[in-house]
Amino acid sequence: MTSSTATRLLDWYDRHARDLPWRIPPGSDAAADPYRVWLSEVMLQQTTVAAVKPYFEKFTATWPTVEALAAAPEEDVMAAWAGLGYYSRARNLVKAARAVADRGGFPDTEAGLRELPGLGAYTAAAVAAIAFGRRAVVVDANVERVISRLFDIREPLPASRKAIRAAADTITPETRAGDFAQAMMDLGSSICTARAPKCLLCPLREDCAGYAAGEPEALPFKPPK
Ligand code: ADE
Repeated sequence: MTSSTATRLLDWYDRHARDLPWRIPPGSDAAADPYRVWLSEVMLQQTTVAAVKPYFEKFTATWPTVEALAAAPEEDVMAAWAGLGYYSRARNLVKAARAVADRGGFPDTEAGLRELPGLGAYTAAAVAAIAFGRRAVVVDANVERVISRLFDIREPLPASRKAIRAAADTITPETRAGDFAQAMMDLGSSICTARAPKCLLCPLREDCAGYAAGEPEALPFKPPK
């Protein structure tokens, strides 16, 4: 079953999806390349889309496939990563690429992806949904904000994480889970922003309990200092 919230969000995404180098257009029959999806998701952890784009282009030009990356000397990858920060991501990238090449390709389930070295819950869910069309609940910090508002979750982070995940699960559709995940991310970056959310432009305004309660911008609550 697909919730009306998911339908509204997907309709919005069909019209407003950002054109990003690792994406395929919404609703496309083509399958996204798991290597490009995985690489982009690792780069996008703790780094903005604008900062990631040139690195993504450089990496995929230098190493067009996971096998090529697996064969690269670690120091070349570290050098190409310079400037992106959080260098453990680059070391884990090489480890995971070698594990994928050794097993002859990416696992195509969330649980299988989770077994790759350095692949956390978020990345496994994102790749399963975006590259393999698996229904997976994909929650990053932006999605936490959107869900907190949509469901008016007033318990502070991080205690609210369980409730946020459960709420996200209730609106995640069986099909187009990858588009749904990326639509949530786009909504979080363009409309449901941390400060001054643009509720009047939001496709989910009618569904939004935080908007109805009158102070969506105050959510999510942070723990008291
Ligand atoms: N941030 C993390 N993953 C993303 C994606 N696939 N699209 C846009 N922003 C993102």
